[in-house]
Amino acid sequence: MLEVKGLRKAFGPLVAVDNISFTLEPGDIFGFIGSNGAGKTTTIRMLATLLEPDSGTAILNGRDIRVDPMSVRRQIGFMPDDFGIYDDVKVWEYLDFFATVYRVPKVERQSVIDNVLELVDLTAKRDAMATSLSRGMRQRLSLARCLVHDPSLLLLDEPASGLDPRARAELKELIAELGRMGKMIIVSSHILPELADFCNTVGIIERGKMVTHGRVEDIVRSIQQTRILHVKVIEGASEASMFLHGKEGVAATNLTGSTTLTVEFVGDGDMQADLLGVLVSEGYRVIEFREEAANLEDVFLQVTTGAVN
Ligand SMILES: Nc1ncnc2c1ncn2[C@@H]1O[C@H](COP(=O)(O)OP(=O)(O)OP(=O)(O)O)[C@@H](O)[C@H]1O
Ligand SMILES: [Mg+2]
Repeated sequence: MLEVKGLRKAFGPLVAVDNISFTLEPGDIFGFIGSNGAGKTTTIRMLATLLEPDSGTAILNGRDIRVDPMSVRRQIGFMPDDFGIYDDVKVWEYLDFFATVYRVPKVERQSVIDNVLELVDLTAKRDAMATSLSRGMRQRLSLARCLVHDPSLLLLDEPASGLDPRARAELKELIAELGRMGKMIIVSSHILPELADFCNTVGIIERGKMVTHGRVEDIVRSIQQTRILHVKVIEGASEASMFLHGKEGVAATNLTGSTTLTVEFVGDGDMQADLLGVLVSEGYRVIEFREEAANLEDVFLQVTTGAVN
């Protein structure tokens, strides 16, 4: 578990990170969203124990990043935004170097390298020169490097920048897989839609402050006032539409077919369940009653525009 508590960092008069707090559980993928200069890299560098906070701290699995930075570092995989693979080494040598630095026992190194290569889908490139890899492959190799010591927290600073759509999609799939393995992942981006579909939590940072953060669905709920419910009945959609009109939480109803209608609804899950209840007890044979999936992109744009205004 990661608990970030009131992290703050100023550079002279500029407060780059201002009282940032959030919590992650194993398997959480946290999308850290903010425009250029918002404070993402500064926050990530503090979590990586490379930059001392002015105040606040973070606790990773019971260890304080300020009290015990060395043991925290062993549990962290950090992929900086400006990583470079300059050395003329083979892919496996590159990973072997980092495995050695992280004190992976010699007898285990071989299998650790094989495992991470397979995970990032670079097994075929094991003996290739690192400098010969495409940008997408280098990014995956860089991620592999962060995994050799099996960290519980991954800090990925704009990992998808400069990648083509296909390489991005592959990287997303890989990050999702790491989440399923139970790792906590912080992945930053200034492009909202890039993160929305595979992060379960997000934080939006603007000028050093966390504007909003939490579970993706909670944020969507808190912002999206009106929801669209799709209702399908075996017969009598038009009567059902009239019946629902004016019920608690119902802003409007629209007939969309002979057996289907939509309801513009303002209210919580309990109220939705109540609405379904009265419909059924009135004798309508309901075969579908579902909330339209929110458009995350729209919602996030709404949040950030609010912050700018
Ligand atoms: N070492 C430093 N000295 C002075 N100012 C700094 C330093 N590092 C960062 N800053 C400033 O702190 C603010 C936050 O920078 P940071 O790099 O954390 O933003 P970011 O969200 O990562 O932006 P980007 O999307 O451009 O990577 C910026 O105004 C930046 O100029
Ligand atoms: Mg940055």
